[in-house]
Amino acid sequence: MASRKNYLVLGCLALLWADLGIHGEEKEEQTCRLLGKFDLNGYVDAKNHTLVIGGLFPIHSRTIPANESILEPVSAKCEGFNFRGFRWMKTMIHTIKEINERKDILPNTTLGYQIFDTCFTISKAMESALVFLTGQEENKPNIRNSTGAYLAGIVGSGGSSLSIAASRILGLYYLPQVGYFSTCSILSDKFQFPSYIRTIASDKFQSQAMVKLIQHFGWVWVGTIAADDDYGKYGVKAFKEQMESVNLCIAFSETIPKVYSHEKMQKAVKAVRSSTARVIVLYASDIDLSPFVLEMVYHNITDRTWIASEAWITSALMAKPEYVPYFRGSIGFAIPRTDIPGLKEFLYDVHPSKDPNDILTIEFWQTAFNCTWPNSSVPYNVDHRVNMTGKEDRLYAMSDKLCTGEEKLEELNNTYLDVSQLRITNNVKQAVYAMAYALDELSRCQDGEGPFMPDFTCAYLPDFEPWQLMYYVKKVQFKTHDGKEMKVDVNGDVTGHYDVLNWQLDENGGIAFVKVGEYKFAPDKFELVFQKNSTIFWNTESSGLPHSVCTDVCPPGTRKGIRQGEPICCFDCIPCADGHVSERAGQRECEQCGEDYWSNEEKSMCVLKEVEFLAYDEALGFTLLILSILGALVVVAVIVVYVMYRQTPLVNANDRELSFLIQVSLIITVLSSLLFIGKPYNWSCMARQVTLALGFSLCLSSTLGKTISLFFAYRISISKTRFISMRPLFRKIIVLISVLAEVSICIAYLILQPPKVYKNMESQNIKIILECNEGSIEFLCSMFGIDAFLALLCFLTTFVARQLADNYYEGKCITFGILVFFIVWISFVPAYLSTKGKFKVAVEIFAILASSYGLLGCIFAPKCFIILLRPKRNTDETVGGRVPTVDRSIQLTSASVSSELNNTTVSTILDE
Ligand code: TRP
Repeated sequence: MASRKNYLVLGCLALLWADLGIHGEEKEEQTCRLLGKFDLNGYVDAKNHTLVIGGLFPIHSRTIPANESILEPVSAKCEGFNFRGFRWMKTMIHTIKEINERKDILPNTTLGYQIFDTCFTISKAMESALVFLTGQEENKPNIRNSTGAYLAGIVGSGGSSLSIAASRILGLYYLPQVGYFSTCSILSDKFQFPSYIRTIASDKFQSQAMVKLIQHFGWVWVGTIAADDDYGKYGVKAFKEQMESVNLCIAFSETIPKVYSHEKMQKAVKAVRSSTARVIVLYASDIDLSPFVLEMVYHNITDRTWIASEAWITSALMAKPEYVPYFRGSIGFAIPRTDIPGLKEFLYDVHPSKDPNDILTIEFWQTAFNCTWPNSSVPYNVDHRVNMTGKEDRLYAMSDKLCTGEEKLEELNNTYLDVSQLRITNNVKQAVYAMAYALDELSRCQDGEGPFMPDFTCAYLPDFEPWQLMYYVKKVQFKTHDGKEMKVDVNGDVTGHYDVLNWQLDENGGIAFVKVGEYKFAPDKFELVFQKNSTIFWNTESSGLPHSVCTDVCPPGTRKGIRQGEPICCFDCIPCADGHVSERAGQRECEQCGEDYWSNEEKSMCVLKEVEFLAYDEALGFTLLILSILGALVVVAVIVVYVMYRQTPLVNANDRELSFLIQVSLIITVLSSLLFIGKPYNWSCMARQVTLALGFSLCLSSTLGKTISLFFAYRISISKTRFISMRPLFRKIIVLISVLAEVSICIAYLILQPPKVYKNMESQNIKIILECNEGSIEFLCSMFGIDAFLALLCFLTTFVARQLADNYYEGKCITFGILVFFIVWISFVPAYLSTKGKFKVAVEIFAILASSYGLLGCIFAPKCFIILLRPKRNTDETVGGRVPTVDRSIQLTSASVSSELNNTTVSTILDE
């Protein structure tokens, strides 16, 4: 440790001292002379005390820029009296007094103090840190006891950058440093800042809290403004990281320059003005904020909601009545407040006449009462800053009015005396206590039980090594005056809670910090709670919750579309594709509807697809139903006629049974169309084609039976053979064989690859078409192939025999019927293939009905006509073709076919 000390001394010497005699011969004349001293203000009380605690407070806000004509480095002077810092400083003194009066802490030791004004600048903090270590006496670098008492540790300093700078030096010596307002997260790094602890939480938690707050209010598009220092930059960095992790967006991120720069300031102002973000996080110390605030006033930017950091939320510098229109409604996090007994009285006990050398008090008085203290050299209200117009504007506003000393502090409305918001002030108090408690612990060490190796030795007051005290500082734990437990973790941080404050208007038109909630944070628990009965004031036109988005949430039915190169919060709303929906607003993707569902018009909901089939209760279905029933009735009527006239020659001609079979089969085919109407089921799918095919095969094979007879008759007629007869049994065998063949194919079809109901979703998106999947096309084709083959045979046989003109031209009629049958089914094919959905089925039914009606009409209509209306022609002769017809003069040379009554043979009688 000793060698470390020497380094520092050498460093300081190099900085401050000039070695005049360097030549060997002149050694005796070697003297050291200080080139200059640091210009530091502050308070010291070390007399009669064994130990002092150092303090660093921002009693001024800035240093006066050095005169450029002076080339040597000079220690700057300060300006801009900071009442808040003055109060903190006074609190430290008050706390030390309090500790000295207490018998339970450090009973045999009294504490003194050595406090410096940092002027809220790094350079002053550095100067102070050096002076703490070495003092400023010529020829006598007193390590750690320049005041005459040992320096135990340091409380401070206010701003993070200052603490960081000071700690880099103090940390080299492991000199304990307890911060009260430096919140920068980097100070938790014990590798860089080994001797730093603090009584305030790290900004890590604050940034987290801000994001929770933003989430709570549903803002997604937030701007940030940061001070150009460690506090602002690290704060915003942590904030941005947190925002990104929850997919919220940063609209802009600007910094407020420390040294006024018009250009940089305008950049920040422009960002605030032009962005659509209505919520802006402001991470900066109040002192740095004033030029920015003035710009906001100048540009009249009023409709923004500011999220305040702990640094300015309770600052009197910001909560001025003139800023009310711009900053009311601000919401943010503050260190919990408390009351400090006895502090108010102590603060009031301040008067410049007490000590004519106390220039800070004189300046306080002058600034507070806007007067000049008689015979004082202390200037006040001097502002050397470059003003907003960019020109340097030195205004010496020193008042001519002399202070009388009679001014009443009670009448003063000043943040120094305002003890209603003791937040950081309490942290100062706790920082001093932390130091005192650590010293107390150190002093209570029992020999042989101490923490230091070897031999469990102790450290002793007042002369101990800084690292020995640091050991106790790290472990310090105590109860504060308001009953809270004070303990630092391994990183030297504390946990606890923030108050959520909202800037509301008070009755005088000023600003009231209203607590609306709390953010509790412990290593494992983070929770933002709002007080139930509290209302939040918003600085919006409607006084409603501000709306801060890049683009509004996409309504249901649309999805977010990324805009190339823009943050995810800015997007286009793209309508969902057909069959896709987004039910909630703001969806990233549209979801596809389930199989049976389709999107509604707005694409906001999946609706059940309409199921389509040819229903009985719709016009088309009903018409077809009627037609098929009508067809069946007509066939029944024909049957009735046939039964009634079963003994007549016409009915008996050419096999009565076959006629009945044809009639029955026509009933089957006509009624089979009913199976095509209505909701398809597996059974109806199986039944419909099979019934139809069987119906037709029965019909056509029976017809074939007839036409073969006609064919033979015709052959006979031309070959003039006599009595060639075809056995009726043979005709029935033809029918049987073809029907059996058809039946077996049908059975194989139904067993092996039966048709099934099929939900057709492909052909139309918005509808499910319920149709029959025919299973096997091969079976279907062979089934109807038989029918077609039968029809073809019928046609061929009857076509040949068409000229066989008996009296009712059966050959012609059947030819005609079969032709109709062919035409219908041939035209059915293209019609069927070019229709969709339920109309496919309708086309098929039409074909069935048309072909059945065709056969019915061609085969039976002329016969019924003769039976019913021309009964005279229904004679054996006419039927046999032997009697000339009345109205036709056809030669009766052709064969006519008649059936014998007993139906055993068919005789073809040749008429020569
Ligand atoms: N939290 C601030 C920081 O870490 C400290 C701070 C804000 C401050 N405002 C201040 C310090 C005013 C001194 C005076 O930097």
